[in-house]
Amino acid sequence: MSEDAATQATVPPSPTSGQRAVKAVIPAAGLATRFLPATKAVPKELLPLVDRPVLQYIVEEATQAGLKDVLLITGRGKTAMVDHFDRQPYLEARLREKGDMERLAAVQRPSELANIFTVRQGEPLGLGHAVSYAETHVGGEPFAVLLGDEFVDKDEPLLPAMIELQARTGGIVLAFVEVQPEEVKRYGIASVAPSDEKLGDTEIVRVTGLVEKPAPEDAPSRLAVIGRYVLPPSIFDAIKRTKPGSGGEIQLTDAMAILLKEGTPVHGIVYRGTRYDTGAPLGYLQTVVQLACQHDSLGEEFRGWLRQFVAEMSEVRSP
Ligand code: G1P
Repeated sequence: MSEDAATQATVPPSPTSGQRAVKAVIPAAGLATRFLPATKAVPKELLPLVDRPVLQYIVEEATQAGLKDVLLITGRGKTAMVDHFDRQPYLEARLREKGDMERLAAVQRPSELANIFTVRQGEPLGLGHAVSYAETHVGGEPFAVLLGDEFVDKDEPLLPAMIELQARTGGIVLAFVEVQPEEVKRYGIASVAPSDEKLGDTEIVRVTGLVEKPAPEDAPSRLAVIGRYVLPPSIFDAIKRTKPGSGGEIQLTDAMAILLKEGTPVHGIVYRGTRYDTGAPLGYLQTVVQLACQHDSLGEEFRGWLRQFVAEMSEVRSP
């Protein structure tokens, strides 16, 4: 037996190795309890960030990485989310008549971004459970998961490197940020080891363990899983074998931990760019301020106002 054949006999190549993810899955069926009552009738994914809803930034991040096939996992009361990516012939005709071509382009843009598909998760039983609804659409290919309330700066993209690394390893690719000890209980946390994988300046680690929302004293590190995953299709079978975990929900982290134990390679990219987390009111407000400051037409005026506002606030506070 040649050396190559011997290696292959002991380490079977992943069935999807070499194939690149081309589909994005966005779980967006959650109840958004942290935003009530604002989200009683309006999905949190449609809350505005200056001039676009949160979800549009997320679909833009997917399409910028070449993922033009986007599956939204939706639930009851969330159909407006899909309407945002549809054409609006009446509104478009009115804007055209008025000669407001700038707004017309802005209204048409979401419908031109991607092919949007939807599937409904009957009951929100956890992130792993939500992702399982993508199985028929995704089939036997690797795919990306983008959580519907966070995104990264468009000038510091993360997905292209994740997709590339996943195509090479055929395994799971995650993205991490370092969080404070008191924050570990909000995230999936990983234990890691150095990795031999190289991808430009990207900081890559090999994942050796994963735990969902640990108490600070049980956390194996401060590396928190952020809402971007590139997964092999074997995740669907692992989800079926996953028992309810943290919060009584079927957790994606637990399904990934099963595959890790069974020998699937799991890598993570440590992200040092700007991440916007709109999932709770404070992060949402910070995102609005940051994006408003950078906005092409509003930015300058907003920054001027903000400077003055902060100065007035400090005067009121100083004795
Ligand atoms: C989910 C995941 C968690 C991950 C987090 C990132 O938690 O379960 O592992 O770290 O997203 O935002 P959620 O925020 O939905 O509770």
